[in-house]
Formats: sequence, structure tokens, C-alpha cells
Amino acid sequence: MSDPSLFLVCLSVHPRHPGMWKMLIVVMCVALLGCLQAQELQEHVSIILLGATGDLAKKYLWQGLFQLYLDEVGRGHSFSFHGAALTAPKQGQELMAKALESLSCPKDMAPSHCAEEKDQFLQLSRYRQLKTAEDYQALNKDIEAQLQHAGLREAGRIFYFSVPPFAYADIARNINSSCRPGPGAWLRVVLEKPFGHDHFSAQQLATELGSFFQEEEMYRVDHYLGKQAVAQILPFRDQNRKALDSLWNRHHVERVEIIMKETVDAEGRTSFYEEYGVIRDVLQNHLTEVLTLVAMELPLNVSSAEAVLRHKLQVFQALRGLQRGSAVVGQYQSYSEQVRRELQKPDSFHSLTPTFAAVLVHIDNLRWEGVPFILMSGKALDERVGYARILFKNQACCVQSEKHWAAAQSQCLPRQLIFHIGHGDLGSPAVLVSRNLFRPSLPSSWKEMEGPPGLRLFGSPLSDYYAYSPVQERDAHSVLLSHIFHGRKDSFITTENLLASWGFWTPLLESLAHKAPRLYPGGAENGRLLDFEFSSGRLFFSQQQPEQLVPGPGPAPMPSDFQVLRAKYRESPLVSAWSEELISKLANDIEATAVRAVRRFGQFHLALSGGSSPVALFQQLATAHYGFPWAHTHLWLVDERCVPLSDPESNFQGLQAHLLQHVRVPYYNIHPMPVHLQQRLCAEEDQGAQIYAREISALVANSSFDLVLLGMGADGHTASLFPQSPTGLDGEQLVVLTTSPSQPHRRMSLSLPLINRAKKVAVLVMGRMKREITALVSRVGYEPKKWPISGVLPHSGQLVWYMDYDAFLA
Ligand code: BG6
Repeated sequence: MSDPSLFLVCLSVHPRHPGMWKMLIVVMCVALLGCLQAQELQEHVSIILLGATGDLAKKYLWQGLFQLYLDEVGRGHSFSFHGAALTAPKQGQELMAKALESLSCPKDMAPSHCAEEKDQFLQLSRYRQLKTAEDYQALNKDIEAQLQHAGLREAGRIFYFSVPPFAYADIARNINSSCRPGPGAWLRVVLEKPFGHDHFSAQQLATELGSFFQEEEMYRVDHYLGKQAVAQILPFRDQNRKALDSLWNRHHVERVEIIMKETVDAEGRTSFYEEYGVIRDVLQNHLTEVLTLVAMELPLNVSSAEAVLRHKLQVFQALRGLQRGSAVVGQYQSYSEQVRRELQKPDSFHSLTPTFAAVLVHIDNLRWEGVPFILMSGKALDERVGYARILFKNQACCVQSEKHWAAAQSQCLPRQLIFHIGHGDLGSPAVLVSRNLFRPSLPSSWKEMEGPPGLRLFGSPLSDYYAYSPVQERDAHSVLLSHIFHGRKDSFITTENLLASWGFWTPLLESLAHKAPRLYPGGAENGRLLDFEFSSGRLFFSQQQPEQLVPGPGPAPMPSDFQVLRAKYRESPLVSAWSEELISKLANDIEATAVRAVRRFGQFHLALSGGSSPVALFQQLATAHYGFPWAHTHLWLVDERCVPLSDPESNFQGLQAHLLQHVRVPYYNIHPMPVHLQQRLCAEEDQGAQIYAREISALVANSSFDLVLLGMGADGHTASLFPQSPTGLDGEQLVVLTTSPSQPHRRMSLSLPLINRAKKVAVLVMGRMKREITALVSRVGYEPKKWPISGVLPHSGQLVWYMDYDAFLA
């Protein structure tokens, strides 16, 4: 709006019109002036801010809307802003007026101009109570009337849900049934986290919202995607493709750190925090989003929302599953006390909610295999800072004395690229690139920056970096509001993206649910208490746990609990321990057997089961057994589901994901079961079972595997040999087709007679679900028809049971 006098004339025509009419007149005036400027048809956008008097609205959203108005009003759009809440009109109006008091203009705007703009914005902003279905119908009518009177075409409506998620469904229903814009105009609903609590609840919420809105109508906010340094990651990678192409991979990157440290604690919001904790609050969303932007394959067109999403999803698919050992968690010491006070809990209450977490993430693809990605966040830490730091390997040896090293040339100085999200010693968003890497190119909205003299960042003086900061700093919500307005979906979280992220985090959250976090005093006093290290796929605190000030749940574990117990089960040796210990013992035993076999026979034939129990074993073998003679190992399948080998349900696929892609087994030593022949799955006529049996006979001396790894099902099945199976329990056949009671029903399996020829059979049994069958099978005799596992009795080989305490201590 460039001519204030015209605007005043407009207003003065109807000086005393109250409420909506005044707003209407302002809309018309603004529209008219905009038309005069833009010489094109005005399009009107209605923005409805639900929760208009709440904290987020007060702190960021009204200011963001004002900025949007300043940016867009002269460009062919007119606006009306409806602040809404459940509060009655008079009181709501007052509260909203308060929230609008502190609007500010960009620094370079003259005060008088600023005052005018603010005044116009306030004229366009009205409070309304939105509580009942009738309130929503009335809102719709008012918008339509407004459009009609002003002769405006409707561009669209934005509903910003700045309300708790329990309110979503009602609001969504009302919008869907009575507040959708007319044909040709768009609807955008903006949602703020939390989007669920785990994969299941996120799925439920997504399904519910999906019944009211189309996917393209939903804009789920992760405000980190609006932070300028985060929003710059893809454009930066794109603009510097040439320099980064050869560097952005496992050969050159030492590690990636994605960090958000906070000094504040959770006081005042423990009712939220107690339910979420730091992993759900920050890692599952903000830090994971940053991770995907750093790690994704760069789309040809980085502004294509569809391509960005597709590439993000590929990152999720390549993430290695997290285990309990992938994370360390902590809790600042006064947290439980705050929870007791705020949530009226008894004195005996101790929370297990983590307020600090560090997690080691691996991405199993060609680009990133072996590169640690460390995600870390915490409350009550010593400083507030956020960044994504890519640390490159130093592969050069510098002969010249260190005192002659020059920042721009020496390959021996640290080489790093930092997307500095904010705060810290730098105090602003920035992109830093070590001078010995390359001189980056950034868009004109970023300028070279200087910091205070003597400032050191990440081990180097600021002068060792090319350092850039935004010409104009913008708040994340204001950036995102602009992206919503322009329909830029790449800055928001789609349903698929959300569920992929929860799918990744939920197993870790479940495994940590009962883990007592390490207590820390908070602030600078934390000292080195939270420092952590990582190796072999695990992350652990560098210092021993000091005396725990508050006991964890349940009886304190005794040292003997962690020892491996040796006993007998069904008259064969039994190894029992807590699961981690057990897996590591089994992996060691397998390696020792393999080494012996290779030494004696030149090769090792290992037949592996599928399912979930061996996953941890595969991961252990992949990450902690560098002496394993993989080059001389043949891998066979104990059983297979009749699905294509690429299907996620396929046992071979599990083996591939958790083991094969990390070790170097010659491909001709890998023997998947031929369940997919002639484009058919397990058709008798294709003779897949016979083909596999012939392959075994041809390659495995005497058809006697060196080691067969089995599991035991809750019904007593083993391999894919189920109770009452007509095949595979006896007879001549080495490999059989069987039927499982659960899907997929068709299976291929080694037969009991073949299994019993093995030199060694290991049966791995883990988890509480196996307690009953473990107890039962310990008492029964040889009854393979009823319990196929009872038929596992190697003729001349050895049988060893590996059971974790959860399964065994019944
Ligand atoms: C929010 C979390 O999403 O992000 C808060 O719920 C956290 O716990 C906040 O403090 C941090 O955001 P920022 O913008 O201050 O870094």
C-alpha cells in the first residue's frame, strides 16, 4: 500500500461502521488500491487463526501474519484475518488486542509507514468465537458476504490450528462440513505438533484428519524447516553441487552432528513434557528433518516438493533400525520435583522421562554407509545452540610445520561445513565453510559475515571459515507462513513422512520406556557427565555412572544378573543371559565355529532363520565381528515365506538389510531359497524345494551344515515346520513346502531330517512371549507332530539353546 492518503479517504467514507462492515470496507479499499497498483484482478485470502490468544499466536503467529500481509498485500491479494478461540467475543477481543499490541515492522521501514501498515492490518483483523457448528457456518457466511460485497474472487482460506491436538477432530469436522471455500479456491489447514505419540497414535490421527482433508490441503508444521539455516541446506547443496559432489559421501565425511542444546528446562510445561520427553519433542521431528535434508540424494530440482519428499522417504528406508544401545538418555535433577509439583504427584514419584538424549544413527546406503550421524538434544544444558555440522576426514599428511599452515590451503586443518541454526556464540543463523574446503556460493539473501574478534567455533577461529548470514533475519513461523501462502509443500511434513519418522523412532522409544535416565545437575555444572562416545554401532556415556541419586524402578540389578548362565535345557547345553549379552555370546560362538570350519574345510556353511529374533544377531555380526571369515562363508536360508525376495516380508530381505549389505560375502556363496520361479510363488510344479535340496547336496558335504540357526515359535514351531505339518517332520525330503497358520501362509523350509544332519544347531529364543512355550517344551519328550521343535535332535552334531532371561526365567 503505497498511497496512504487514498487509504484514509477510503476509511473516512464510513467512519462509524462497526465490526464486520468496517473490516469489509477496509478490505475493499485495500483491494481497490491493490488493483490500482497491480492492474489485475484482486484475489482474496481469508486467514483464520484458531487459538488466536494462545502463546504461540502471541509470540510468533500474529507477527508472522503481519509480515505476510506486508509482503503480499501489494502483489494482487487482499486479506482478512480472523482470530478465533473458544473465549466469548468481548473477552476474546480484548485478549487478541493485547496479542496484537507488540507487532513490529522490518528495521528499514520508516516509523510513520510502519504505523500506517499496522493500522491497516489491525483493521483487517477481527476476533470471533468459534465454538459450535453454527459459529463455523456463520464464519462461512461472513466470508462469502464479504467477498460478494467487495466483488472479490476468492483465492483460498488458511485455517491455522494453534490448538492442542485433542481439539483437531472437532475443528476439522466443522471446517469440512461448513467452511470450505467455493469451487476454484484452495483450502489449507495448518497443523502444529505433536502429531501423535508413537507410530500407532500418529497413524490414528492421520487417518482421522484424512477423513476431513485431502493430503494436499494439510500443512503440518515443523518450525525447524522454517529456520533460515535449515531452509538453506538443500539450496546450498544445490548451488554448490560441483564442489560437494565428490565430498558428500562416506569416503570424505567423518561424521555428522545434528544438535539442539537448550538452557531452559521444562518447568511450566511438565504436563506436556512428561508425556513426550526429548526424543518425541525434538529428535523425532526437528532433528530428523535436518538429518533427511543433509543425507538425501539431491533431487535435480530442489524446489520440487514431490521430488524432495520422495528423496526424504528414501533416507527413511535406508535408516538402520535403532536399538537400546543406540542411545543414551539423561534427566536434569530437578525435573522429577517439578513434575511432582505441577502434576500433583506423590513424593515417591520419580519420572523416567528423558530430558536429554544422544542417538547414533546409521544410514545403510552407498553414500553414507559407516558414517555416524549423531543426533543430540537436551534441556538444562550449558548453552543454547543449534547446528548441523558435517565434519570431513583429513586424508592429507602435511609435511610443512604447523606454524606455516594457512587456513585456505592446509588440508591438515579441520575441514567442516556448518549449518548454524541459531544462538550460541555466533548469535545468528549462519553457514560456515572451512576455507580449506571450497569457497561456497550463496543466494543474494545471504551476506558474508564477521563475528566478534577472537571468536572460535568448532575448534577453529571464525576467520578460518567462509561465513555467511542472512541479510534479513526472519522468524521460522513467518518464513513458513509465507510458504503456506505460496503453497510450498516441501517445507511441511506429509503423512508419509510423518509415519516413516515415527516408524523409525517408535522401537527405540519402546525399548527405552523403562530405562532410568542418567541424572544431571543442569547448566555448567553438568561438566563432562553427559559426554558420550560411540563404537561398534553403540553409543555410551564416557564416564561411569556416578552414584544414582534416585533409584530406578524395580529392584536394583545385581552384578550376577549380567553374567551368562550356563545350564541344561532338554538335556542339551543352555546359554542364558539378558538379551544383549546373549546375542553377543551367540555371535562370538558363531564366529568361533566359522573360523574353525574354515581352518579345517576351507569353508563354512551357515543356515539362518528369519523373523525378528535374529535381527539383533545379524546386526551384531555386521558391526562387531571383523574377524569373521565371510569370504569363505556360504549363507543358506532355513526357511522362507512365499513372497518375492525383494518383499519386506521375505526372510532373505531381512538378511539382506541387516547383514548382507554390511559384510563381504561373495555373491556366489549366497543361497536364497527359490520361492519365486516362472513368475510364480512356491508352485509345486516349479520344484523349487527340490532345486534347493539339489543345491545343498551339491555344495554342502554330506548335506551337513556346519551350523543351523533356528528359532522357536510360541506354538512350538521351528523353521517353517508347524504343528501337524504333513511334510518335513520326517521322511526323505530335504526341503519342503509347508503351510503356516499365519500370513503369508505358504512357506519353504528345511526339513527336520536335514536340520538334524547338521554339525551344530543353535536355537535362539528371546522375549516374554516365549515364556510359556519355553516352560512347556522343557517338559515334553520327542513329539515333533505336536511341537516340531522337540524333533530337533542332531544325529551326531551338537544342539545348543540360547535363551534370554525374559524367555527363560518363567
Ligand atoms: C519445540 C519444542 O518444538 O522446539 C520445545 O517443543 C523446544 O521443547 C523448541 O524448546 C525449540 O525451538 P527453538 O526455535 O527455540 O530452537
